[in-house]
Amino acid sequence: MKDVGRHPRIKLMTLSEVEDVSGYVGNFNVKVRRKARYVREADCTACGECATVCPVNKYNEYEVGLATRNAIYIPFPQSIPSSYVINMADCLSKDVITCNKCVEKCQKRCIDFDMRDEIVELKVGAVVVATGMDVYDPTRLDEYGYTRFQNVVTSLELERLINAGGPTGGHLVRPGDTKAPKRIGFIQCVGSRSHNRGNPYCSNICCMVTIKNSLLIKEHYPDTEITVFYIDIRAFGKGFEDLYERSKREGVRYVRGLPEHIEEDPSTGSLRLKVENTTAGCIEEHELDMVVLAVGLEARKDGDKIRHLLSLSQTSDGFLAESHPKLMPVDAPTRGVFLAGCVESPKDIKDSVTQASAAAARAGVILSSDKIKLDAAIAVVDKEKCTFCELCVQVCPYSAISASKQNKIAAHVTEAMCAGCGSCAAECAFGAISLRHFEDAQYMAQIEAALAENPQDTAIVFACNWCSYAAADLTGTSRLQYPPNIRIIRTMCSARVNEKFVMQAFKLGAPVVLVSGCHLADCHYMAANRSTVKRMDRLWSRLERLGIRPERLQLEWMSAAEGQKFARVMAELDERRSKVTPEEIEQTRKALEAADKKKVA
Ligand code: FES
Repeated sequence: MKDVGRHPRIKLMTLSEVEDVSGYVGNFNVKVRRKARYVREADCTACGECATVCPVNKYNEYEVGLATRNAIYIPFPQSIPSSYVINMADCLSKDVITCNKCVEKCQKRCIDFDMRDEIVELKVGAVVVATGMDVYDPTRLDEYGYTRFQNVVTSLELERLINAGGPTGGHLVRPGDTKAPKRIGFIQCVGSRSHNRGNPYCSNICCMVTIKNSLLIKEHYPDTEITVFYIDIRAFGKGFEDLYERSKREGVRYVRGLPEHIEEDPSTGSLRLKVENTTAGCIEEHELDMVVLAVGLEARKDGDKIRHLLSLSQTSDGFLAESHPKLMPVDAPTRGVFLAGCVESPKDIKDSVTQASAAAARAGVILSSDKIKLDAAIAVVDKEKCTFCELCVQVCPYSAISASKQNKIAAHVTEAMCAGCGSCAAECAFGAISLRHFEDAQYMAQIEAALAENPQDTAIVFACNWCSYAAADLTGTSRLQYPPNIRIIRTMCSARVNEKFVMQAFKLGAPVVLVSGCHLADCHYMAANRSTVKRMDRLWSRLERLGIRPERLQLEWMSAAEGQKFARVMAELDERRSKVTPEEIEQTRKALEAADKKKVA
């Protein structure tokens, strides 16, 4: 942190918040609110005299409530800049100057209540998002009694209790009576790996945090009895298994099983729990002085703001989604934006540093080049055909299109922002927008070719490049069988499937059509497949109005790893195809032709 603060080419803006981001890769405009510190940074020597006279005592966020802080304080001992700050929400002088004690005490005269927030505008070429995560709040798990029982603490609180710079100077004591605990229990997976008691994913760090803390305690207090209650210990990573084995050699006992609930003896503050030891196959009762809940990590609750500002997407667990989990793990879907650390998924320090280095290197590539290469497959507008309807603006997940109905300004695509999903091309009813290399005419030709022979025996499948097409590939490489009369047409995203492609397939005699794409939170183009859902709804209603059975048009989500699902869906599709009679196909063709004629008339 100090190195960053001193670096001549890094401008560190603390106590600041991003207010707005506009522009695109290589050319972002960022508005940052620098909040008032009410203490002049350059003059403050951090002597601490002001804090000695401050009468306010508030929850100390850094010490997770195990200590208090004043209204004027240093957030944590090594903070940069090393200067005091006043939390105006806590200060007694926030409305009228009623206290003023710190001002009178400060010899350097660096406290200034007239300071105001300022807005700083920056021009940057790339953005790295490293806004971190939240820790699971176990108050929700009433059975463990966190906040009801003083001697039930979280792993974060234990970190502060055994830290030499912490509120107890590193002496391990129970919060209830400040006595040294002799029997400590760690409960793993609190808020993790559970569908109804927290989050379904593994938080990655909790096992190693517990092992590290148990070893630290054993080192300083060898007589302490430590028991770890777990589902399974995940100690992958360099040297981690060794550490796990070492902790066992040091006498840490591991019991496979999670306690159902904790009871407290109010007279002594000790805790009692029952657990099914699934290795030994018996019920055990434990009497403990302190219980540590190994809490998991979760996405920041206030993360939506930055997500909207940068047009990013999130995965179903709430963390920000990367462009591609294997091939672009640090790139965000918005070009020029990179992810680092737990904002993307729970990870430990080593992985965070690795990802941050990769993100910095990726950003460096943009900053060091004069020109940026764009993908060829991007949206292009035929301004002559544009009717200023703004539909393309509404469906673009990247806000790459501008147009104005009011001022009759035709659609304009900012090429550097376009990712090439094709939602706009599929939405435009006037053919004014097309996706280069994935144009309507090309798709129409593919549909025609696929249905040129025996259309009644053919099922048409539109498969998105990133998931369902990859699932089809996997089906092949896994040597799974699926019916040979399926004709797959690749689109970059399911959102590229225009209504007229589906109608054309039915007109040419296709008994069934399937549109398939990535699972809803996994679309490669942020939430572009939400447009697919809307379009499909419209299509189903239209088919119904025309007297065509809507079941003949199917929608399926699948991931690249679901080869088996692909094979199953194809078999079901073929089954459905076999039930469509030649008369029904003929009726469909006539209904669609009649509708076309009506439209022309
Ligand atoms: Fe697969 Fe959008 S990329 S549905």
